[in-house]
Amino acid sequence: MIRKMRIMDVEQVAAIEKEIFADPWSEQSFQHSMKVPQNLYLVVEENDKILAYCGLWGVAEEGQICNVAVKEEERGRGLATMMLSELLKQGSEMEIKAFTLEVRVSNASAIHVYKKLGFETAGVRKNYYTKPNEDALIMWYYL
Ligand SMILES: CC(C)(COP(=O)(O)OP(=O)(O)OC[C@H]1O[C@@H](n2cnc3c(N)ncnc32)[C@H](O)[C@@H]1OP(=O)(O)O)[C@@H](O)C(=O)NCCC(=O)NCCS
Repeated sequence: MIRKMRIMDVEQVAAIEKEIFADPWSEQSFQHSMKVPQNLYLVVEENDKILAYCGLWGVAEEGQICNVAVKEEERGRGLATMMLSELLKQGSEMEIKAFTLEVRVSNASAIHVYKKLGFETAGVRKNYYTKPNEDALIMWYYL
């Protein structure tokens, strides 16, 4: 089931975040960010367990997609594609007209998913990431 992230999900979300990212967001960062009215956070839940999550920050008519993650053992089942499609749908209902995100240039599976959803590469941010240092692709999707 895909649904909005709730405060009680944050402990599981932050635990997944810690497993995956070198610079993980804290529980407090998620709690703060999900309360901002212009933001939207979704989770995929199965049998009371969070398997995946993603976030959207709305600024005027643009949406910045952030914190996209699927638990390692649940990858390759289409969860990211499904969850992000729902995020784009709900984002469009919030009057967002264009979505953007950054992704590591080496992150082939994420780039594949974003392209499949309609995102196109608009440029490169040099040395955007640390741990390890890497460039970011900037991608956009216009409704
Ligand atoms: C990127 C990520 C969110 C994808 O989640 P997922 O649930 O496995 O994604 P899906 O199952 O919906 O789709 C994966 C697609 O990538 C493809 N893929 C897998 N490995 C690939 C590779 N090395 N190169 C190209 N495509 C690849 C799969 O074939 C699949 O495409 P298809 O449906 O057209 O066959 C997940 O791997 C993840 O959480 N990674 C770590 C965190 C991360 O990188 N987040 C994104 C930060 S911008």
